[in-house]
Amino acid sequence: MSMGSGRLSGKVAIITGAASGIGLAAAELFRGEGATVVGSDITAADGIAQADAGSDADIKRLIDDTVLAHSGLDIVFANAGISGGLASIFEQTAEDWAEILRVDLIGPFLAIKHAAPHLKARGGGSIICTASVAGLRSGAGGAAYSAAKAGVINLVTTAAQQLYGTNIRVNAICPGLIETGMTEILYQMARDAGRADRIGDLNPLRRGGEPAEIAAAALFLASDESSYVNGQALVVDGGLSSSHPTARRFDIRAE
Ligand SMILES: NC(=O)c1ccc[n+]([C@@H]2O[C@H](COP(=O)([O-])OP(=O)(O)OC[C@H]3O[C@@H](n4cnc5c(N)ncnc54)[C@H](O)[C@@H]3O)[C@@H](O)[C@H]2O)c1
Repeated sequence: MSMGSGRLSGKVAIITGAASGIGLAAAELFRGEGATVVGSDITAADGIAQADAGSDADIKRLIDDTVLAHSGLDIVFANAGISGGLASIFEQTAEDWAEILRVDLIGPFLAIKHAAPHLKARGGGSIICTASVAGLRSGAGGAAYSAAKAGVINLVTTAAQQLYGTNIRVNAICPGLIETGMTEILYQMARDAGRADRIGDLNPLRRGGEPAEIAAAALFLASDESSYVNGQALVVDGGLSSSHPTARRFDIRAE
């Protein structure tokens, strides 16, 4: 895509958690659509700014440096996250909870807080936070992770309201099961057990998702195509969360 004709041409974007998975896919897609992308991660990687998404000082510095280097900021994809494992409530400690909430919930809060004044100065912008289907109901992650992601879904509603009149939109994405660094162990275990065909079989599309499919949703929310979408959580899960658990006894097939 040549500069000037992309869906994000002329825009400056920050993406956290950009060294892997969804963040990496979004960085590639946004760049392909003409954006100047500053990717950041806690893991050092080529072309990636190092910043801890849950650190107030790091996120403020990342945003200030980006604005200085690129004369402004239009889009923030607060995407970095940790799963914290699947240990039960009874096995988790308060320290486990504090760290998961720090990265997964305080991280998006910091991104919104520090980015908003710069987006406002530009006359508007888009902030996207990665939540999860785990934030909708139980069964898709540990207790702290799920609570943090539910918090993110709520946070974008309050932030959208508190940014009244600024033309800054704040939305969340709730991915289902996506093959990334976070789910690598799960995928590997299924493949090792010869059960790769079972991956994603709880949703009607009967497959796991690809990082690019979440990046595409982020691109929609980042671009002007979603100019009237604000304070929402967009679920991208192959239909997983659209039903209660149910026995599949249907015998209706497409012709
Ligand atoms: N993979 C899934 O099935 C799935 C489902 C729902 C939601 N999500 C969410 O998607 C987001 C992206 O995760 P992913 O699936 O691409 O996994 P991933 O592990 O491939 O990528 C996450 C990235 O975040 C980085 N990171 C972790 N802690 C950080 C911190 N404190 N500061 C900065 N960077 C940090 C990691 O180094 C990694 O590069 C996360 O918020 C995750 O909770 C993933």
